[in-house]
Amino acid sequence: MKTAIILGVGPQNGVGGYLCDFAAKEGLHVVVAGRSFDKLSLIAETIKASGGQATPMVCDATSEEDICKLIANSEQLGPVDLAIYNAGNNFNGDFLSMEADFFEKCWRVCTFGGFLFSREVLKVMQQRKTGCLLFTGASASMRGKPRFAPFTAAKAGLRAMAQSLAREFQPQGIHVGHVVIDGGIAGDKIIKGIPQFAERAGEDGLVGLEGIASAYMYLYKQPKTAWTHELDLRTFKENF
Ligand SMILES: NC(=O)c1ccc[n+]([C@@H]2O[C@H](COP(=O)([O-])OP(=O)(O)OC[C@H]3O[C@@H](n4cnc5c(N)ncnc54)[C@H](OP(=O)(O)O)[C@@H]3O)[C@@H](O)[C@H]2O)c1
Repeated sequence: MKTAIILGVGPQNGVGGYLCDFAAKEGLHVVVAGRSFDKLSLIAETIKASGGQATPMVCDATSEEDICKLIANSEQLGPVDLAIYNAGNNFNGDFLSMEADFFEKCWRVCTFGGFLFSREVLKVMQQRKTGCLLFTGASASMRGKPRFAPFTAAKAGLRAMAQSLAREFQPQGIHVGHVVIDGGIAGDKIIKGIPQFAERAGEDGLVGLEGIASAYMYLYKQPKTAWTHELDLRTFKENF
C-alpha cells in the first residue's frame, strides 16, 4: 500500500483533516501529521472506522529532527507517493512595532518547514522516480496586503520554492504542485475562531473544504503527460 503524508493537520473540519480523508479514499495509507496528538488520532480513528488506513504522527514542521523522523517512519509503512505541506499560520500585525521573532516564526512555519519537508520527501521519491509533492498557498502567496508582510513574505517564498522544485524534479518524474486558496476557508479556523469573518462573508462566501480536497486529489491523479503546477481556488463571490 502506498503512503500519503499530510503535514499540518489540525481539526477534522479543516484543510488538513479533509486532505487526510480524501487521500484515504484514494486507497493510500495516510500519515496524519501535525502538532496535536489528540486532533491527529481522532482523524486517524475516523478513517480507520470507515475502512481506510491511517497513522497519526506528531511532528513540528519547523524541527529538522521531527521532519526526518516523519519521512523515515512513513516510508516504513509503505512508499510515500503523495506528500502535502499544509502547515501554515496567518500572522499579521503592525509593521513598525513588529518584533523580529514574530516575522521569523511566520517564515519558519510557512517557508522553512516546507524546505525541510520537501528535501526529505524528494530524497525518497527521487530514488523511485515517481511521486507527488503539493503545497498549500494562500492569497498572500500572490499579493501583499497591509499588515500581512510576514505572512506574504513567507507564503510567496514557499510558492517560489515550489516553482523551483517543479523545474528541477518534474524531469525526474516527480509532480510538484502549488494550490493557491484565495480567500477564507469554510473550516473551524474561521467558523469557530473568527465567526464575525464568516458572518461577513455570508452564504457561500468561504472556500469549501470538499472542493479544496478534491482539487488536491485531481492534481495527484493527473497523468505525467498533463501535469498542472498551480491551481487557484476561490468562491464565485470573491473579487480578485
Ligand atoms: N484558514 C484560512 O482561511 C486559509 C485561507 C487560505 C489559505 N490557508 C492555508 O491553508 C492551510 C491550512 O489552514 P487552516 O486554516 O486549515 O489551518 P491553520 O490554523 O492556518 O494551520 C494549518 C495547520 O497547520 C498546523 N501547524 C501550524 N504550525 C505548525 C507546525 N509548526 N508544525 C506542524 N503543524 C503546524 C496547525 O496545527 P495546530 O492545529 O496544532 O495549530 C494547523 O492544523 C495553511 O497553509 C493556511 O496558510 C488558510
